[in-house]
Amino acid sequence: MMDRSARAALDARTVVAPDYDALCDKVAAATSDWIVRHPGSLVCLAAGDTPLPVYHRLVARQQAGKVDLSSVFYAGLDEWVGLGRADRGSCLQVMSDGFYVPAGIPLDRRRVFDGLADPVAECRAMDQWIRARGGIRFTLLGIGLNGHIGFNEPGAPDQDGSIVVDLDDTTRAVSAKYFGATLPVRQGVSVSARSLLRAETVLLMASGAKKAPIVERLRSGAPVREVPAARLLDHPGLRLFLDRDAAGSVS
Ligand code: GLP
Repeated sequence: MMDRSARAALDARTVVAPDYDALCDKVAAATSDWIVRHPGSLVCLAAGDTPLPVYHRLVARQQAGKVDLSSVFYAGLDEWVGLGRADRGSCLQVMSDGFYVPAGIPLDRRRVFDGLADPVAECRAMDQWIRARGGIRFTLLGIGLNGHIGFNEPGAPDQDGSIVVDLDDTTRAVSAKYFGATLPVRQGVSVSARSLLRAETVLLMASGAKKAPIVERLRSGAPVREVPAARLLDHPGLRLFLDRDAAGSVS
């Protein structure tokens, strides 16, 4: 359980927006401002449904001349092992169509996991990409219904670098929403929680009533073996962005 002072400290780093649109506006502004101030840095962005409108807003901000999204480098957060660019719902497809292509990010400014390649080799290649750019400095994360960040599932390896993970039942069940079908996904590749924790700025966003129970468990200080996102709670650069529905009892 989290004591009162820790809870107050977390409250001070929590932003509750009135609705999802307002939430995405706030996260896009925070991300864009960070990019403007940190050219040449490495940014790690989550796929998933929650941040997609943020990416559309980033592209709009670039079109309005407020940010040059190619001034930073990108590392993809995670991928389903066995899925590639042609698979609807793969992280590569979602991020290419939702962000990298419309934002015009050159290929030499981004690296994402290839879910069709050998997963262990992909982890090593991603680690090399991250190391060569001085580590991840900013990350925008979502939270899974089981508390995962990326594919850092409950009980996933706690190690440096990227990891190959057996997906848990919740993640496999939820996966159908991305694919429009039930696919036999069993593993994922992901930047590890430890590598994410090295970032100076960590934005975690959650939206909708279905996320309220896991957000409440996170905010009550659930053990990290049960709620992997709880690893972020001690991070001084964490900012938790919620909409009203995900915030539950948070005022
Ligand atoms: C997915 C991804 C995560 C994502 C999270 C939440 O399975 N592995 O990177 O942030 O779960 O997804 P969503 O935003 O669709 O709820």
